[in-house]
Amino acid sequence: MKKLHVKTYGCQMNVYDSIRMAELMAEEGYVETGDVDDADLVVLNTCNIREKAAEKLFSDLGRLGEIKALRASAGSPVVFAVAGCVAQAEGGEILRRAKDVEIVIGPQSYHRLPALVEGAMLGRRAVETDFPAESKFDHLPPRPATTRAASAYLSVQEGCDKFCSFCVVPYTRGSEYSRPVPDVLAEATRLVASGAREIVLLGQNVNAYHGASPDDGDWGLGNLIRAVAEIPGIARIRYMTSHPNDVDDELTAAHRDVEALMPFLHLPVQSGSDRVLADMNRRHTAADYRRTIDRLRAARPDLALSSDFIVGFPGESDADFTASLELARDIGFAQAFSFKYSARPGTPAATRADQVPEPVKTARLQELQALLAVQQQRFNAGFVGRTMPVLFDKPGRHPGQLGGRSPWLQAVHAEAPESLLGRIAEVAVAELRPNSLTGVLTTRGAA
Ligand code: 5AD
Ligand code: SF4
Repeated sequence: MKKLHVKTYGCQMNVYDSIRMAELMAEEGYVETGDVDDADLVVLNTCNIREKAAEKLFSDLGRLGEIKALRASAGSPVVFAVAGCVAQAEGGEILRRAKDVEIVIGPQSYHRLPALVEGAMLGRRAVETDFPAESKFDHLPPRPATTRAASAYLSVQEGCDKFCSFCVVPYTRGSEYSRPVPDVLAEATRLVASGAREIVLLGQNVNAYHGASPDDGDWGLGNLIRAVAEIPGIARIRYMTSHPNDVDDELTAAHRDVEALMPFLHLPVQSGSDRVLADMNRRHTAADYRRTIDRLRAARPDLALSSDFIVGFPGESDADFTASLELARDIGFAQAFSFKYSARPGTPAATRADQVPEPVKTARLQELQALLAVQQQRFNAGFVGRTMPVLFDKPGRHPGQLGGRSPWLQAVHAEAPESLLGRIAEVAVAELRPNSLTGVLTTRGAA
């Protein structure tokens, strides 16, 4: 039996891709192992969004070199494949820099992995980073009936045409592509049949989705969500990641009408300063963002919001940064991510002369994160004493406990029988922990 170890860096799209690659290699007889020492094939599915993420690949490859040497001397060589966005961005440079790597494969070419692995076993090193005309989705095997994840990712859209001036995504993932509606519905149906209660629709720019529909039209995300909600057995739908400019009336209406669409939205704003937003090529102002949130909250009053912020974008002044703090304060996020600007080769902002000094970035990040942490605590504290449906998807911290998610994506722990894994049950929230809520089951009759 051959063994496969996949290490995933970065975003949910990569998590999804890793699962699909493992399913593809399962057809070739590979069984997944969590133990890298044990693997015949190691796939590193990389992220290039910030320098730190990309550097991780090379530090990990340094450590993995030892395993490579040991396995070769024991006569059972291991094949190393680098996939994902660093593979796409660096291509053949990876083969030059890392002698242990046999395969470099970009996100659009995963269906070619079995052939490349076969070649690697015969000593052929390969780089596959074209954007092939055919969609990889048409060449990947259908989802197996054994997925068994309570919450399942489903990529419906890839790539981005927005070209924010800090971002590598348009270069590593290519231009926008939406999977046809029937393909998405077929995959969602299979996932639900294999036990998923929640489907998370994924895309780098998921609300720019415009997939070919069965009626020869072109559906946006709002209509897609309505169709997914019709699948018998589905309880929850989420989607990420979105751009504020693509929140159209159809999507807003879905938040109003579709009960299964969870009241939580990750909508990156990046900055609260109009000048910085313009320099970022975001094509919206802070006021536009606030209006979009108002519309969404009018449609779904209990909607909780999440966001991404970048601090220290080139040219960001103290006043610009203060505008970001103000926007965060006004919106009141249930949670949010914030990052120091990281200059990425090939992106327009990277070559600007007015880069912000590192200590300034560090101080701004700390200040913003402190504010966001207070907001998160305040949001979560509001749930103590309330009862909420929790989708249990994993064992808890100690025996007898399960962990799950609330509709607002909070992590919730409760004493619960294992039979509730993969099911939704009502929990009375009793206590606020630093990164989660704990509570008590109120019903045994789970959905
Ligand atoms: N530097 C810092 N953060 C970045 N992001 C994207 N590119 C960069 C960069 N060059 C952040 C954005 C995006 C999230 C996924 O990563 O906030 O929304
Ligand atoms: Fe990057 Fe998102 Fe901007 Fe596209 S919309 S360029 S993925 S930050």
